[in-house]
Amino acid sequence: MSNDVIAEAAALARHHAIASFSGFKVGAAIETAGGRVFTGCNIENASLGLTVCAERVALWKALSEGEREFSGIAVVSDSDTPATPCGACRQLLWEYCGDIPVRLQSVNGSNYTVSLAELLPRPFGRTYLSTGKSD
Ligand code: THU
Repeated sequence: MSNDVIAEAAALARHHAIASFSGFKVGAAIETAGGRVFTGCNIENASLGLTVCAERVALWKALSEGEREFSGIAVVSDSDTPATPCGACRQLLWEYCGDIPVRLQSVNGSNYTVSLAELLPRPFGRTYLSTGKSD
């Protein structure tokens, strides 16, 4: 599936965002290796700290449907230059998706694609756990 199609799915999902506190609506669409697309939007709440980003909503939806292999993600937000994923989302995308292409897009149409490895250099991952020592 083309990056444009995934970005369009992310743009549509953005309309469902619950951004009552920040006013910053974000949409995401993650594509599986088999070509399925799962969308997400940010969901805020009154405690603020329990807010979930669009990327994580899309990722949780896909994982909870049994998907484990991913080929890319698109994120759409309304900023002059396309917003990049927060650190927590970078970590989770790395752990569950590996080095996928990340298409970042603004509602004004500007966009670019960057690898997750570029967004999260020297990541922590599960390989460290297997070499770790217990007390
Ligand atoms: N947000 C996302 O959903 N994804 C990002 O990549 C960056 C930030 C959301 C979280 C919060 O609801 C709002 O944007 C402002 O930070």
